[in-house]
Amino acid sequence: MIESIYTYDIIIIGGGLSGLRAALEASKQNFKIALLSKVHPLRSHSVAAQGGINAALGNATGGEKDTWKDHSFDTVKGSDYLADQDAVELLCKLAPDAVYELENMGTVFSRMDDGRIAQRPFGGAYFPRTCYAADRTGHNLLNTLYEQTIGEDIDFFNEYFVTSLVVEKNKCIGCIALNIADGTLHGFAAKIVLIATGGYGRVFARSTNALINTGDGAGLALKAGVPLKDMEFVQFHPTTLYGTNILITEGARGEGGYLYNNQHERFMKDYALKAMELAPRDIVARAIQSEINVGRGFENEYIHLDLTHLGAEKITQRLPGIRLIAMDFAGVDPIEQPIPVQPGQHYSMGGVASSSDCSTPLSGLFATGEAACLSVHGANRLGGNSLLETVIFGKIAGESMSASVKKITKPNIEEIKKKLASEEKRINDLLTRKSGEPMHEIRDDLKTILFNCFGIFREEQKMKEGMIEIQKIKKRFQNVHINSIQKTFNQTLVHTLELEYMIAIAEVIGKGALARRESRGSHFRTDYPTRNDPDFLVHTMAYYHDGKIQLDYTPVNLGIFPVKERAY
Ligand code: FUM
Repeated sequence: MIESIYTYDIIIIGGGLSGLRAALEASKQNFKIALLSKVHPLRSHSVAAQGGINAALGNATGGEKDTWKDHSFDTVKGSDYLADQDAVELLCKLAPDAVYELENMGTVFSRMDDGRIAQRPFGGAYFPRTCYAADRTGHNLLNTLYEQTIGEDIDFFNEYFVTSLVVEKNKCIGCIALNIADGTLHGFAAKIVLIATGGYGRVFARSTNALINTGDGAGLALKAGVPLKDMEFVQFHPTTLYGTNILITEGARGEGGYLYNNQHERFMKDYALKAMELAPRDIVARAIQSEINVGRGFENEYIHLDLTHLGAEKITQRLPGIRLIAMDFAGVDPIEQPIPVQPGQHYSMGGVASSSDCSTPLSGLFATGEAACLSVHGANRLGGNSLLETVIFGKIAGESMSASVKKITKPNIEEIKKKLASEEKRINDLLTRKSGEPMHEIRDDLKTILFNCFGIFREEQKMKEGMIEIQKIKKRFQNVHINSIQKTFNQTLVHTLELEYMIAIAEVIGKGALARRESRGSHFRTDYPTRNDPDFLVHTMAYYHDGKIQLDYTPVNLGIFPVKERAY
């Protein structure tokens, strides 16, 4: 099975927006760069981002001045004060130039009548600040950046799944990857490895995420001894389509959509009187779930997102994608009928612990985008800040890696060969096991446990039960059976390798959530319903040690915005 060892200066794992942006930046210098992605880059989950990207351009404020400080304040308040204010400042200051850069590269942003980039209101933002390309912003950005990178001297290894990082003497020196197309295993030696693999949404049932979002990067880092940060903060998007949980963009409410319960009440008045449907996501998601829980939902499962009053022209121009999604997957035309929606897992605020330069505590390893925790979202991310984070910190990762790589000596190939041999054995053992439990049964149970025990509302007893169930899942995984030994496109093998990481991530989420005895942002505990700053205004750090997860805490970088009660 062993095929070859490749050697590069920089290896980027992940071909979504953050990985591509990092690759583009690093390619400005004469480095040997490889980008490994388990799907074709254009199938990365960034493609599914709908509503937009935030920048204080002030195009739609009616003459009032929007500034990076306003953007920062909204972001810090939205984060329930858990975001690091220095990192947020960087994000918001660099945002306008990043948007203009993307425009210059060819992104087809929607326009105002006077030709400037259009901006729509989004949850938790004082001004309309979200730039968009109808409701296909991620699709436009991803195609733009892919177009920019394929012309550069970057080797793309598409449909390569990274099974493990290689660490020698506390340094990351490369990775091992499976070529999904033919089943061969390869060693990649590198001076620097960047994790840009996106989120872990598919650890949960009911997720807007692509099936590929299994948290591989967080899993790879954790098992390599790198801490994961703030993993208990899991975002539930308020409006996902009932039945499939496909995202129905916040842009629909930004354009003026209303939420109704089965009494035909705009119930958000009871939860966020000023902001109404445009309160931050954690608040709107809890409001919707509360209405459903007390019997004011439809079929005890969903509420209505009504766009009918917006009119056909606005819907077809600004929200064409969600109209098609509603028609194709729910049989509902939003021009005429409300859309049935319910909350669903959407985003991972936590991730690989990373500094603002995208370096991690492990020398030679960097992380960026949703896979990383750069601490710009804290306990709750604002809509439109995720696309922004990918391009801002993708670029920063490219710059930091370029600066660091020159100081690093060549990796030890012998160590890569050793790891390649042990990974080959691990995979062969899995493939040749004669019997056991099918991977999908274990995976489906894991997702249900996470959704039921660590969902929108959390509580001690339920979470303890969840932790016991996760331990049972761990045991069952030791007996997992892959029913196919085919070499080409053995997806069962890939999903089994993913599952091992998903289980580790689930444990980290659970442990962090149980230990955090307060409510903050997306982490809402019915048994501790208020925020507890004296004890928990801290970041959670989770370490993997001897097969066990251990927690530690680090301070939040506060700044010009004093910690306050959060009201909308
Ligand atoms: O609702 C949305 O369009 C999602 C945007 C985001 O997650 O930033």
